[in-house]
Amino acid sequence: MFKDSFKYYKARKPPPNLEHVIDPMKPSNKNVRKMNVDFQSETGLGVKFGLKSMKEWNIYEFINIPGLILLQNPFTAKGQQEWIIKCLKEYTEKPNITNIDAHGLLSNNETWWDTCFGTMPRKDLLSRLRWTTLGYHHNWDTKHYSENLKSKMPNDLKDLIEYLARILGFQEFKAEAAIINYYKMNSTLAGHTDHSEAYLEAPLFSISFGQAAIFLIGGLKQENSAHALFLRSGDVLVMSGNSRLKYHGVPKILIDESKPWSSMPNSSINNEDWQKVNAYISDSRINVNVRQVLKPGQLNL
Ligand code: OGA
Ligand code: MN
Repeated sequence: MFKDSFKYYKARKPPPNLEHVIDPMKPSNKNVRKMNVDFQSETGLGVKFGLKSMKEWNIYEFINIPGLILLQNPFTAKGQQEWIIKCLKEYTEKPNITNIDAHGLLSNNETWWDTCFGTMPRKDLLSRLRWTTLGYHHNWDTKHYSENLKSKMPNDLKDLIEYLARILGFQEFKAEAAIINYYKMNSTLAGHTDHSEAYLEAPLFSISFGQAAIFLIGGLKQENSAHALFLRSGDVLVMSGNSRLKYHGVPKILIDESKPWSSMPNSSINNEDWQKVNAYISDSRINVNVRQVLKPGQLNL
């Protein structure tokens, strides 16, 4: 059962044995199969999005989880740093909605970033950031999207996801809504399915940054058993086809000593924002979860 695996990996005492967690860094041919994509589709845009050359990408399908695709960290370290800064500084600003705004923890014209990192930093708010919604805002109570609760998707994020989607073969994918989840080391995300979108045939794109996670994915019902896999900084997970509506969740965050977001000592970007963000990410994970909401040709909800 999904919840038994969840409980097992979440436990601290005793800590879980990670031997059965599928590790795309050590791909065994009984778990994953390499997918080939057309390198010819590479355009100059990759550099702008902080991506490595497509020749360096590794893309895997999971043999026992049809439809699930992992594009293993296609980002450069600098690219990751830029996206992490955006997730914390830019995307937490209005018109996007964060749990901090929703709970009225800031006064009207304050931003989360300025409150945490300004001249009089409120350190207490730093770890209280849980989510931001962009585009069609996910309503956490009704679980519905509506035309009345919608703002513009940031162009850079929309363009990145649609670029990746095209290369992975999802020509028509439109990035219309995003949830950014912020995790501390003891955070979890309970098992759920994502079924609020009007068009459930479109895949779901999920990018991880910062510390690593154990990701659990089961079946269409909670009673089905689950597979566990590692997600690391930069990884792009795509839930498409048969995997799109499966139960999934995050029972554990793990320190990633390899720090895939940090550059070689002499080339690290030394700007002020990165100094702040580097400290934040040392005990945090960020997940950027992007969805298409509308059916092809549908103009609004
Ligand atoms: C979600 C989700 C998974 C993750 O936001 O719906 O499933 O890896 N996130 O954080
Ligand atoms: Mn989900």
